[in-house]
Amino acid sequence: MSVKVIHENIISQMSTAVLVLNKQLKIIFANPSAESFCQQSINRLHQQRLMELFSHTTLNEEKLQEALQHNFSYTDNEAVLVFKAGHNLTAELTVTPLFFDNEDNLLLEFRAIDQQKKISQEIQQHNQQTAARNLVRGLAHEIKNPLGGLRGAAQLLEKELKSVELKEFTSIIIEQADRLRNLVDRLLGPNKPPRPAQNNVHELIEKMVRLIELESPRDIEFIRNYDPSIPNLRIDADQFQQTVLNICRNAVNALDGVGKIHFSTRIENQVTIRGKRSRICAAISIKDNGPGIPEAIKDTLFYPMVSGNENGSGLGLSIAQTLIEKHGGKIDVESWPGNTEFTIYLPIEDKE
Ligand SMILES: Nc1ncnc2c1ncn2[C@@H]1O[C@H](COP(=O)(O)OP(=O)(O)OP(=O)(O)O)[C@@H](O)[C@H]1O
Ligand SMILES: [Mg+2]
Repeated sequence: MSVKVIHENIISQMSTAVLVLNKQLKIIFANPSAESFCQQSINRLHQQRLMELFSHTTLNEEKLQEALQHNFSYTDNEAVLVFKAGHNLTAELTVTPLFFDNEDNLLLEFRAIDQQKKISQEIQQHNQQTAARNLVRGLAHEIKNPLGGLRGAAQLLEKELKSVELKEFTSIIIEQADRLRNLVDRLLGPNKPPRPAQNNVHELIEKMVRLIELESPRDIEFIRNYDPSIPNLRIDADQFQQTVLNICRNAVNALDGVGKIHFSTRIENQVTIRGKRSRICAAISIKDNGPGIPEAIKDTLFYPMVSGNENGSGLGLSIAQTLIEKHGGKIDVESWPGNTEFTIYLPIEDKE
């Protein structure tokens, strides 16, 4: 067998999706794995510009051009690829400059991030979120006690004071202490354990949707798509509604007056939650067609005090995640411009 045939065999048997791009970043070669990776035939891939495969991606065209011009290779451990063909993937990517036929080309190797890696990332994120939450809670707790003392002392002083002008000062202290206390209470987060009862999730969601509908601009459209086969779930109604409300209010804020919010429910099998496999889960998704979550806060979205809004306290999602975790569930998010979807997963108890 000639070396060339051996090379061809290796490339066509590789599980990694391989693309070769020319100077214009057009695809001039794709191996069979790239075909299933992109869900397009090799013939159709040929001569397409790479960027035209995606409706959204974190791949940076300028960086590819730079690698080509300055002859350097790089890796991207988490490239988000949303294909126009409809599917989306997160992949590890290695980019290497290739020189042949007197031309500069680029070799791209994609490997989809597997389930196991996603699970370990999820566990790591959960641990970091918990640490951040505990830090903020600890701090809030430390502020709360002396604050109570401060307020009490100002009240006593107020009683002793005769002059109305001086009383004004003590009332300012009390007022500001109350403000701070409100903030501290929010930072401490939900402290009541859930009181679960059998509840119909659709009824609970519907109540919240109607509430949000009333307070939202008229050009926001609310679409429902419920799966009636979801059984009643043992959940705390208030806490579940608080979660839906927090996610929903964010969607309304992001839409800035006009857009669509899509509520849907479905059953999902074999969902892994913090490393543990749940045989059957209810998945409740809230999706909007707004601008997407700002890149800068994507990795720390569920941390307390992380906000992309000037007036936001950044607590809504942290509280939502805490509440759902207390129910043994999780909240996942997928977001790119025009598509932001939060999904609440709640395990359904096995009757067997
Ligand atoms: N659907 C969405 N589309 C775009 N960005 C979003 C969406 N949901 C959340 N975000 C971003 O995530 C940030 C954090 O949300 P979170 O609810 O935790 O805090 P907040 O809304 O800023 O403040 P709070 O909810 O405490 O009033 C938001 O500020 C916003 O930038
Ligand atoms: Mg919010």
